[in-house]
Amino acid sequence: MTRKSFLSLGLFTLASVFALATSAFAAAAREVTITSNDAMQFNLKEIAAKPGETIRLTLKHVGKLPKTAMGHNWVLVKPMTPAEFNAFAMSCATKAPVYLPDDRSAVLAHTKIIGGGESDTIEFTVPSAPGDYPFLCTFPGHYAMMKGVLKVK
Ligand code: CU
Repeated sequence: MTRKSFLSLGLFTLASVFALATSAFAAAAREVTITSNDAMQFNLKEIAAKPGETIRLTLKHVGKLPKTAMGHNWVLVKPMTPAEFNAFAMSCATKAPVYLPDDRSAVLAHTKIIGGGESDTIEFTVPSAPGDYPFLCTFPGHYAMMKGVLKVK
């Protein structure tokens, strides 16, 4: 074996070990549970997060009403002004049954719409840029009460 190929083999091994270590770290997602109910409420208004961390979020619907009447989802969006937030929520309201706009460029993560007794779990990477990332339920008429902030810092 030449010295050069030995060196590149060493680098390759080092890269593999690093990749394994990185994926093991990424697999350790932090669990967050948020509940929603028949009174159109989330139990959390604020979720603290570290830039770039992986969150495994479970949305639970602790009510009894079906998703056609009292459906809830959890949608995380890019930082935006209150006016943009309202416009985004309005653009979701007509999009049954998913209640997400055709243009998903502002959507960072979302669960599906669930009804009473159901839950949905998603995994997502928190943005690397610190800031306030709004979340909401996009079921028609819910965002005024069902909203909060993922605080990344
Ligand atoms: Cu809702």
